[in-house]
This record gives sequence, C-alpha cells and structure tokens, in this order.
Amino acid sequence: MERKRILTGDRPTGKLHLGHYVGSLVNRVRLQDQYECFFLIADLHMLTTRPSREDIERIMDNARDMVLDYLAVGIDPAKSTIYLQSAVHEVYELNLIFEMLVTVPRLSRLPSLKEMARAADLTEMPFGLLGYPVLQAADILMPRAHLVPVGKDNEAHVEITREIARRFNRMYGDVFPIPEAMIGDVPTLVGIDGKAKMSKSLNNAIFLSDDAATVRKKVFRMYTDPNRIRADIPGRVEGNPVFIYHDIFNPNKAEVEDLKERYRQGRVGDVEVKEKLAIALNNFLDPIRERRAEIAAQAGLVEEVIYEGTLRAREEAKETLMLAKKAMGLTGVWNRISRRAERARKRREKSATAS
Ligand code: TRP
Repeated sequence: MERKRILTGDRPTGKLHLGHYVGSLVNRVRLQDQYECFFLIADLHMLTTRPSREDIERIMDNARDMVLDYLAVGIDPAKSTIYLQSAVHEVYELNLIFEMLVTVPRLSRLPSLKEMARAADLTEMPFGLLGYPVLQAADILMPRAHLVPVGKDNEAHVEITREIARRFNRMYGDVFPIPEAMIGDVPTLVGIDGKAKMSKSLNNAIFLSDDAATVRKKVFRMYTDPNRIRADIPGRVEGNPVFIYHDIFNPNKAEVEDLKERYRQGRVGDVEVKEKLAIALNNFLDPIRERRAEIAAQAGLVEEVIYEGTLRAREEAKETLMLAKKAMGLTGVWNRISRRAERARKRREKSATAS
C-alpha cells in the first residue's frame, strides 16, 4: 500500500530555534520513514506580512539557513521532499479555487491573523494575510497530505484546511483526504525571557545553530523565579523556564529532580541550575551543530536539495490540480471551447481554399 503523506513547513524568516524543534521538527524526523514527507519553504506566506524588496532579497539566505537546520536535525532529502513554495505555480491556482470555499467572517475571527498583523505593525488587514490559511490549505492539499505536524499556533489553520477539503469533496467529489494536525509534545515552548512563546521576533530564542558560548550566555540571561533574590530563598519550580527546559532537554532525570528539590528548599543557586542546563542544551545541540557544519561545507548541496525537491513537488502539484479541475468540471469548459474553436477554424480554412 502507498504510504500516507505529511506536509508541513516554515516561513523562511531565518534560523530555526528550540521552539521549532520541540513543536514540529522532532515529529518530522521521527515520522519520515513511516510517511512520504513534503516540507515547504513558505516564502509566499512570508509575503503576507513582509512583501518588500528587501524581505524578498533575504529569502535566499533565509531558505538556505532553514534547510541547513532541517538537514542538521536529521531530515533526510533522500526520503523527504523539500521545496520552494513560490516555484510551484499550481499552488497559486489551488489557492484561488479554495478561496471560494471559505467565508470572510470565518477567516476574520482567527486570532492568529490579527496577531500577525499586529506583530508586523499593520493597522489594517491585508487581503493576502486574511487568505493566509487558505494558501496554507493549498499547500497541505497539494500533495493530498494526511498529516500536518505543526506548532500549536497553526492548529486553527489546519482546521480551516479540513473545512475546505470537506467542502470541496462534498461539492465536487472525493479528491482530498481530510488532513489532521499533529502538535508536538511541547506545543508552545516559553522563551528565555519567560514570555509565552519562543520567537525570533520577540528576541527570546535559542537557535539550533547558536554556538556553545552563545547558548551558555543566553541560559545565564534566562528568566527564573523573580521572587528569589537570594539562593537561600525557596523558589518555584512550576512554570519556571529553567526547569521547563531542564525537563525537556536534560536527559539526566535524577539530576533534574535533585535540582528541583533543592530549588524548592532554597538550597541551590541559580548559577548551578543554569550551568547544568547550559551543559544539557549544548550536549543536545552538539551533534546538530556538527552536522550543520558538515553540510554547509559542501557547496551547492542545499540548493540541490531544494531544486530536486521543487521539481518533484511540481509533478505532484500538476497531478492534484488536474484532479481538482476535472472534478469541478473546469477542464471540461476549456476543452469544449478549444475543440469547437479548432473545428470552426478548420471549417473556415476549408471553405477559404474551396472558394
Ligand atoms: N504557517 C506556517 C508558519 O507558521 C508555515 C506554513 C505554510 C505551513 N504553509 C504550511 C505549515 C502548510 C504547515 C502546513 O510558518
């Protein structure tokens, strides 16, 4: 039987961080043997909030960095298709078709879009940003994907995709599977500032490509229990970013339990907790950094991966668009027009030569 499919991806806004890793990357790596995987560089989505020439000029470097991160964490281009969204034209067409299958009020209610508009300092909602989830539906339904590993912030968009797929299938016939979102074990990772979400734009991220000294410096800047102004004051472990990170990234559970115990009793300084966290994080990141450097040293490799992947994605996209248009009867209209036009032209030519 054919393997089921995964589609997911990221906007090329730069290097990926620990939040991306626990929210989605780890699932992608884990599932790439089980599923046929498509990972997109969502540069068209980036345009919804950043359409300037300068932003577009940065796509190249950002896409490179992102794909380097993909490969460094273990995404294998021999198994998975990595492609550039803007180079797959059929996606633009699917997007337009799907625009008819969702309402403006449905999209307007999404908090994520308002959030993105606010973050980009846009006072009014651009038409394209309102359509962000529709374009995402075009991405997901392009390879007729079954599963979408994403962070919590994208869950509502996958719901829109499901609605669009159901609506399409009901109106025109079964073309699309109804895809499911898969949220990582850590749906939203706190930033090093203790704010709800690690994000490049909030300047509170530890990047997969940060060197060991940078990671250590960031860990030592981390927000902890603000009431604990001295090491002998009992501290709060729950919701404390340093312990959240310890729980996720420190495989030495006994060490973590011991630190928590002493933290609660006021018998350990922040320095020791952070020193051990820095070590754990660097142990986790070391092999990723190593692989990143190896791949980066091979000139043109990343470009080749994206190039081959995009050609592969185009084939898939062509097939799906054809299936969709056929189901809708759209191809039929054009076919009949061209057939009749050609017949008419031949008739005209024949009567011209006859006279
Ligand atoms: N919305 C995703 C982000 O936050 C990027 C993206 C675009 C995406 N198309 C997708 C994710 C399709 C999953 C599936 O960057």
